Amino acid sequence: MTLRLGDTAPDFQAESTIGPIRFHEWAGDSWTVLFSHPRDFTPVCTTELGYVARLAPEFARRGVKAIGLSIDPVDSHRGWMADIKETQGHEPNFPIVADPQRTVANLYGMMHPAHDEVYTVRTVFVIDPKKTLRLFLTYPQTTGRNFDEILRVIDSLQLTDGYRVATPVNWKQGDDCVIVPSLQDPEEIKKRFPGGNDDQDAAQSAPPSPAPAPSSGPSPSPPPAVPP
Ligand code: BEZ
Repeated sequence: MTLRLGDTAPDFQAESTIGPIRFHEWAGDSWTVLFSHPRDFTPVCTTELGYVARLAPEFARRGVKAIGLSIDPVDSHRGWMADIKETQGHEPNFPIVADPQRTVANLYGMMHPAHDEVYTVRTVFVIDPKKTLRLFLTYPQTTGRNFDEILRVIDSLQLTDGYRVATPVNWKQGDDCVIVPSLQDPEEIKKRFPGGNDDQDAAQSAPPSPAPAPSSGPSPSPPPAVPP
């Protein structure tokens, strides 16, 4: 099955480091980042999982749960978690799915046989609380991912879900965003963005920046604007 943005993230049941998991039930009302790595105890994967563990407060303040996956068994994952703690200074505080039969890997298109017939590539799926797929990225096995970028996309998704705005190139929380092109009516723009907007570019009117990024709290707080 080819997954596309907007599809429902497939549910699955699997063994994991926190015991058997039913994915949708485990995700509950949270956003989820599901990511695969090729193998346990490999150097790049080790840095990635250590970094995701270090990002736990950033995930928590956005209401996001992380969950890793590889085809190695749970016992291996448990031994590896201790190794990650020792070498990276942070023990994974999120479950790691064991997928020796590649059931989940095949469901989510994590096997790319022309790249590697045996092990998963590096995929990342961002899934919203309605279980809708909102982002996916696929990296080669030799390239570690940038999880700060994943957080940046989640910030954009959580902001743009609430207001008729989009985020421009290299946007980060607190920067200006743009009014969606479909919103052209000046009266409605005034109503939705009562603080005014910078109108230099007719195609991409820049509304006032959403409120500066909160240093804590569950999600970005946009300015006083009228939700869609
Ligand atoms: C690694 O995690 O270090 C790795 C895994 C597969 C291929 C290359 C590197």
